[in-house]
Amino acid sequence: MKFEVAATTNPIDQLKVIGKPTDRIDGPLKTTGTAPYAYERHDVVPNQAYGFIVGSAIAKGRIGTIDSNAAKSAPGVIAVVTTLDSAPLPNGPMNAANLFGGPDIQHYHQAVAVVVAESFEQARDAASLIRIAYVPVHGQFDLAAAAPHAPLYGGDSGEGSGAPPEHRVGKFEEAFDAAAVKLDETYTTPDQSHAMMEPHATIAAWQGDRLTLWTSNQMIAWGKRDVAKALGIPPENIRLDSPFIGGGFGGKLFLRADAVLAALAARAAGRPVKVALTRPLVANNTTHRPATIQRLRIGATPEGKITAIAHESTSGNLKDGEPETAVDQTKLLYAGANRLTAMRLAVLDLPEGNAMRAPGEAPGMMALEIAMDEMAEKLGIDPVQFRILNDTQVDPADPTRPFSQRQLIECLQRGAQRFGWDKRNRKPASVREGHWLVGMGVAAGFRNNLLTKSAARVRLDGKGVVTVETDMTDIGTGSYTIIAQTAAEMMGLSLDKVVVKLGDSDFPVSAGSGGQWGANNATAGVYAACIKLRDIVAQKLGFNSANATFSDGQVQSGNRVAALAEAARENDLVAEDFIEYGDLGKTHQQSTFASHFVELAVDVYTGETRIRRMLAVCAAGRILNPKAARSQVIGAMTMGAGAALMEELAVDKRYGFFVNHDLAGYEVPVHADIPHQEVIFLDETDPMSSPMKAKGIAELGICGVGAAVANAIYNATGMRVRDYPIRLDKLLHGLPQAS
Ligand code: MOS
Repeated sequence: MKFEVAATTNPIDQLKVIGKPTDRIDGPLKTTGTAPYAYERHDVVPNQAYGFIVGSAIAKGRIGTIDSNAAKSAPGVIAVVTTLDSAPLPNGPMNAANLFGGPDIQHYHQAVAVVVAESFEQARDAASLIRIAYVPVHGQFDLAAAAPHAPLYGGDSGEGSGAPPEHRVGKFEEAFDAAAVKLDETYTTPDQSHAMMEPHATIAAWQGDRLTLWTSNQMIAWGKRDVAKALGIPPENIRLDSPFIGGGFGGKLFLRADAVLAALAARAAGRPVKVALTRPLVANNTTHRPATIQRLRIGATPEGKITAIAHESTSGNLKDGEPETAVDQTKLLYAGANRLTAMRLAVLDLPEGNAMRAPGEAPGMMALEIAMDEMAEKLGIDPVQFRILNDTQVDPADPTRPFSQRQLIECLQRGAQRFGWDKRNRKPASVREGHWLVGMGVAAGFRNNLLTKSAARVRLDGKGVVTVETDMTDIGTGSYTIIAQTAAEMMGLSLDKVVVKLGDSDFPVSAGSGGQWGANNATAGVYAACIKLRDIVAQKLGFNSANATFSDGQVQSGNRVAALAEAARENDLVAEDFIEYGDLGKTHQQSTFASHFVELAVDVYTGETRIRRMLAVCAAGRILNPKAARSQVIGAMTMGAGAALMEELAVDKRYGFFVNHDLAGYEVPVHADIPHQEVIFLDETDPMSSPMKAKGIAELGICGVGAAVANAIYNATGMRVRDYPIRLDKLLHGLPQAS
C-alpha cells in the first residue's frame, strides 16, 4: 500500500483498541523472567560453547604478532580466532570502525581475538594468556584541541536529523550585527554511552553454509545485510532472531563484534558459540554519542522577535565517521529571517561515534534551549513567552512547506498552566528552603518524524485467531502491544485473539526500531496487511468487501453477518503487504513537539542537584497506547536528566579510551531519582503521517529535557553552567554563602 494522500476516516478511527492505555501483552513474560533474551537461549541449539573477546590495549597503531599458544593449550579451550587470521571484514554502510580482521588498530578495545572454551570462565582465563605485540602510534583524542582546525562537514544521523556543512538563509552576519539584543555563547556536551541494561550478545550456529544468529539487535534487516557483507555469504543463508531486546538506544542499530565473532568462532569451533560483550567493551568496542562543542548566536529586536540565529557544532569521529548532527532542529524550531547552521568534524581516534538516543536533537537541544533561556533573560521576557513569540508554522528556510501539525505553542501554554509556572520567581537564587536553593526551568522539545517502508504478514486461523509476523523489534518500547492493538482494531477482535511474532529475519521486513520511527511505520505496515486480509476474508465469505465491517469477532455486510473464524474454517487465510510513502514527508515538514518543565533543588552546601518534579506536554500525532507512550516519555525524561546531571564518558587523553566503562563508573539516573514525573499528550491526529495518524514519541521525550534542568539550576542558583553534565563541582565555587 502506498500512502500518498492525507488519511481520511479508516477502521483505526474506531478507537476500540487503539488509543486505550493497554498493559503490555509481553508483560507476564518479562515479569516472570521467561522472555528469551539472546545470551540465555540455551534451548535453541544444543552444545553451545562460550566465546570471550579480547579487545585491543592500544587505541591506534597495529599488531605485530599474536602468540596464542598458551591460550590454545589452556583447559577447556576449543578454538582461538585472531584478527591476523583474516583481512579486514567489510563494514556495513553506516559504520566507520573496522569490526574485525587485519593488523590495523583504529580504536581502543577494537576486537582482536576471540577464545572459545567449554565454559565462560575457561574462555576468559585463556583469553588472558594471549600475548600481543603492538606497534602503537600517536593518536588524537582531544576534541577541544582538534576543534579549531576541524573542517566544515555535512552529515546525517540516519535517524531523521542531518545538515549540510553550512546552511544559510538571508544574511546572518549583517542581521546579527544590527540586532538590538544579542547572545553569543558556547556550550559543550560530553561523550556518552548507551548503557543499555542488556549487553550486546549473540549465539551463532552453522548448519553447513547456513548461519543462524540469536542476537539482540534493533534493525534485523540491516543486521542481515551487514552479516552477509562482513562474512561474504549470501543473505538468504543468514537468519537473525531477536524477539526480546533489553534496551538498545542506538547501540544495537548495527552489526557489532559479538555477532561477527560468534559466527567466526562457531565456524572455527565446529559447534554453536555464544558471545556477550563485557561492560568495558560496550563502552569502548561499540559506538557512542560523540562530544560536541556548540556555538549559538541569537539576535533579536527589543520586543523579542528573533532576527538572526546561528548554530554551529563541532564533534569528532574516526575517519569516515559522521558528525553529531546537533544543529538540525535549529533550522526548524524558531522563526527568524537570517539563519546559519554549520557542522565541523574533527578526526579523532576514539571509538566510533554514532546514533544514540535521539542523535542530533538530544545534544543540540541541550545547547539551543539554554541559549533561548539566556536570550529571554536578556530581553526581560518570560522564557515561555519568548518561545511563543518566535513560533513558526512553516519551514523557515522554505515558507511553502508547512508543518503537517505543530502545536508547540499549545504545549508551552498547557505546560505552564499545569506546572504552576506563574509561581516561578524570575529572580535567580531567590527561593530558599533550608539548605536547598529551589528553581524552575523550561525548554521546548523537538524531534523529527520519519516515514519508512514497513511490511507485515497476517494470518487468520479457524479459531478466529490472527497472527502477525514482522521483523519489527521490541527494544523495551511496547512494539508487541501496539502491533496487537492495530491488528485487533483492524480485524474487529479483542487483544487475546491476536498473536504477535517479532524480530525474525524470516518475517517481512519492517521499519525496525530507531529514530522514534518504529511505532508509526510498523503499525502502518500491519494496517496495510490487515486491509488485504479484510478483502480476502470478505471475498471468502462472499461479502462485498467495500462495505464489510469487522467487529466483535464478526464480519457484517448489509444484512449478512458471519463469524470471522468462519472465513478460515477450511484453510488459514494469509495476507502480506507493506506501507510505503509518497511525498507527504517532503511537501510537509513532519516533526513532533513538546514542552519540558523541571523543578529542582540544589544543596547550598554540597552543590548536589535533586530534581523534584518534571512535566512533559507532547504533541506527537495519535497516541496509540497512552500507557506505553507514557512509559517511553518518562524513560526519556530520565535520560534527559542523566544527560544534564551525570552522564559523561571520561576520556583518557593519553591512551585514548573511555575510563568509566561500566555501570559503576558511568552514572545514569533511574526513575526513583525523580519523585514526580507527569506526561500530558495533546489531543492530535496527523493525517499526513500514515493511516495510523501517529508519529514518533519516545525520543521527543529526551529532546529539551537537559536544557530545562540547566535552566532550572540557573533559576535556583544564579549560576549558568554551559558545560554538561552539571556536576556539583561545577556549582560549588559559585553557590551563595551558606548560612
Ligand atoms: Mo536510535 S539512537 O536507535 O533511536
